[in-house]
Amino acid sequence: MEKYYLSLGVWRCLKKQNNYFMRRIFFIALCFACLASFSSSAQTPKNWLDTKGHVINAHGAGVLYYNGTYYLFGEIKKGNTWRVPNQDWEDYRVPAGGVSCYSSKDFQHWKYEGVALSPVKGQPDGDLDTGRVIERPKVIYNAKTRKFVMWMHVDKKDYSYSQAGVAVSDSPVGPYKYIRSVKPNGNMARDMTVFKDDDGKAYLVFSSDNNNTMDICLLSDDYLSPTKTHVPTLVNRRREAPAVFKSNGKYYLISSSCTGWSPNAATYAVADKMLGTWKEYGNPCTGPGADSTFSAQSTYVQWIKGKGFLFMADIWNKTDLEKSTYIWLPLKVTNGGVMINNPVK
Ligand code: GAL
Repeated sequence: MEKYYLSLGVWRCLKKQNNYFMRRIFFIALCFACLASFSSSAQTPKNWLDTKGHVINAHGAGVLYYNGTYYLFGEIKKGNTWRVPNQDWEDYRVPAGGVSCYSSKDFQHWKYEGVALSPVKGQPDGDLDTGRVIERPKVIYNAKTRKFVMWMHVDKKDYSYSQAGVAVSDSPVGPYKYIRSVKPNGNMARDMTVFKDDDGKAYLVFSSDNNNTMDICLLSDDYLSPTKTHVPTLVNRRREAPAVFKSNGKYYLISSSCTGWSPNAATYAVADKMLGTWKEYGNPCTGPGADSTFSAQSTYVQWIKGKGFLFMADIWNKTDLEKSTYIWLPLKVTNGGVMINNPVK
């Protein structure tokens, strides 16, 4: 506001002096200043640090809340970014770095717990080889087996493999033991999340059918396998980066469009049951930057005790993926509608 009054004062002063040249220069400078302040307001901290002062490396992340502690799991992106040749899309890659884990009591101070799932070197045909793809890891706790179960998207560098990988651990922070990967009910599986409902049932939600359809598949009681119970949803809508949450008995699914590492507008869908029927609504984001999800792509929605829902998204830096950052924003559900605003000005 102060900046606005200052600009208005200078403008009037130049007008009084009838100085047209200076007024034009001043107007152009003002336009640049407005643009610069808009783009900086759409960003979050560049260097988001853990409790030891190291940059947090957890992309496409998910959260597990267990015994009063939040555990954050994400893709480790480290090393040179390169572009896979002969692809008709911007297939930028870093070596698959495995899955990191951080813990926090307050969702602000994050302690690094180490590599929860390690990649493997020198096994080009193995799911966890550093030359392949490990993305969007999500962890849930199985109260019956007392195991922590991690699901993730595993792929070849050209995304032709399209499988869902599963790993298990006795401790939330790992190490997780990789079991296998599957094509649930024969379907391709790329971007994904898992959702555990209040009744203990868990679902794998994944971009399927070459990203044309979002499939929702009930997991077995031990959470280690897909069951035959599944529904193709958002058919032919080409959605990815799913983030699911429940509020007042309704289920919400936020997703992005398919533009690779480049941001686009999110949409959300609502259902009375996880297995549908899902109805798609518009963009939950509002205000400047809403049409690019504030330069980011959805990954997770977490309920924070005493605070409300938090929408978590990745700001990808496609030509230097290690430098990708994050944006976490408050999410509100009002009269069944979802609203995400970027209050950082
Ligand atoms: C995005 C997807 C990311 C990653 C990327 C590769 O659309 O959400 O997880 O797979 O494509 O280009």
